[in-house]
Amino acid sequence: MKRFESFVWHGSTPYRHFPEMNSKPSKRGTATTIALFFFSVIFIGAIIYARWIDASITGGSTQKGIITSKKPHKCSAGNLTQTCPGNYPRTYKPVSGDPSLNPVCPDYFRLIHEDLRPWKETGISRDAVERARKTAHFRLVIVKGKAYVEKFKKSIQTRDVFTLWGILQLLRRYPGKLPDLELMFDCDDRPVIRSGDFQGPSVIAPPLFRYCGDESTMDIVFPDWSFWAWAETNIKPWNSILNELKEGNKRSNWMERVPYAYWRGNPHVAPWRGDLLRCNVSDKEDWNARLYIQDWIHESQQGYKQSDLASQCTHRYKIYIEGWAWSVSEKYILACDSVTFIVQPRYYDFFIRNLQPQHHYWPIRDNDKCRSIKFGVDWGNNHTKQAEAIGKATSKFIQEELNMDYVYDFMFHLLDEYAKLLKFKPTIPREAVEICSETMACAAEGIEKKFMMESLVKAPTDTSPCTMPPPYDPQAFQSFLQRKANAIKEVETWELKSRETKNKQQ
Ligand SMILES: *[C@@H]1O[C@H](CO)[C@@H](O)[C@H](O)[C@H]1NC(C)=O
Ligand SMILES: *[C@@H]1O[C@H](CO)[C@@H](O)[C@H](O)[C@H]1NC(C)=O
Ligand SMILES: *[C@@H]1O[C@H](CO)[C@@H](O)[C@H](O)[C@H]1NC(C)=O
Repeated sequence: MKRFESFVWHGSTPYRHFPEMNSKPSKRGTATTIALFFFSVIFIGAIIYARWIDASITGGSTQKGIITSKKPHKCSAGNLTQTCPGNYPRTYKPVSGDPSLNPVCPDYFRLIHEDLRPWKETGISRDAVERARKTAHFRLVIVKGKAYVEKFKKSIQTRDVFTLWGILQLLRRYPGKLPDLELMFDCDDRPVIRSGDFQGPSVIAPPLFRYCGDESTMDIVFPDWSFWAWAETNIKPWNSILNELKEGNKRSNWMERVPYAYWRGNPHVAPWRGDLLRCNVSDKEDWNARLYIQDWIHESQQGYKQSDLASQCTHRYKIYIEGWAWSVSEKYILACDSVTFIVQPRYYDFFIRNLQPQHHYWPIRDNDKCRSIKFGVDWGNNHTKQAEAIGKATSKFIQEELNMDYVYDFMFHLLDEYAKLLKFKPTIPREAVEICSETMACAAEGIEKKFMMESLVKAPTDTSPCTMPPPYDPQAFQSFLQRKANAIKEVETWELKSRETKNKQQ
């Protein structure tokens, strides 16, 4: 019980669905240790009985096992083995004839060109890749369709494991289609390659893959691990969740939802989240916000059932606010059919930049959150048709353009375009080991293994990847950014006007 409590009050307590674990680097050590535990609680009568299970899901042994497959026990389930078998198809033959006739990929794929632009003229030298090693957790090498990993250090939880798992599934989906490549991957939160340090042609910037970026950095954004699962928090593969949400949204009509803005999460990971809590309803003020701290004791009493994410789509408005960097919670919030209130973010993941304010979400100021939320809810409740349409547009985007087919295609095109820029021939480093789904799943245990089997790509697809859209020309890119800024400005103007009117009336 003691340990349970210290976990509950720890700053980086994960929220079960929208956890923000280990967001502050200073707390990473403790939080990572804490993450070694997977808990389940059995509730007998009035006695809460907390049973701790060290599932070893993030333990060094498993991680090492996954990557080096030295785990002693043999895998009997299915075709899992301790060595990479050679019987999976090495090539794939799409049934559709001309791949250039394939549908064009969603618009957010165009940002692949933007993210790789720093290397467009110079290409990527081996030296540049080596310099990206400084903060990387692993090096990934793909040669002749096989994946090799050189691990440098332990990542937070199983971030690296499920990221690699995702890449292996991409290789199973399109065997033989990815060109040879070599890259460095950093699994931490915040981007680190500052654009300001690499002005001019003298030094090629180190290309470093990670989960998010921002305006002042040039890290290359890649889908995060949670698309394949977040084992520590019991979050299933994205595919399964999308199906649940689709059904859930059908059951819950927007008009009948609670007409307030909802947020639930861990406020301690970043000061702006603590600031958000000031907007909660109280005796004195109602900012139209209903905010909750994730309560682990309550969650544990509920038995940590794999949550039905759809049951969280109960409010007309849902707030998204960043944690230490971008937050994994984003896609689950956007998928709800509710209007997403996005508190002015600083970081972006691979798809968010293409969402339009007023069309896909409602912008909330970060320097005046409460009044901004109140206005947004009032606006939506006055314009229910428009508000409902925003919720629908977003969940449609999520279901249709951010399903796993497109997540894989995004990975494919990003890696394909990246590989085109390499000026050297990737070779298998001596320190690297081959990884494949069979050995990785064989070495995994418990819920990790379950989620791996659930997200396993069983056979090559019979379609080609979508067709890569062309880059924006610089002018079009500027106007794309301008359009977004204007839509945000417009909401802010409405907000100010309504405030002035109110002041006059008083
Ligand atoms: C196992 O192998 C059989 C036949 O070789 C194949 O049909 C099946 O899909 C494989 N299962 C997995 C999980 O790869
Ligand atoms: C916000 O207000 C609601 C309603 O009074 C309350 O149930 C909830 O605990 C409050 N949240 C926080 C974080 O204080
Ligand atoms: C909503 O409607 C009420 C009543 O007509 C009006 O007083 C208020 O200003 C409107 N608020 C917004 C944000 O549209």
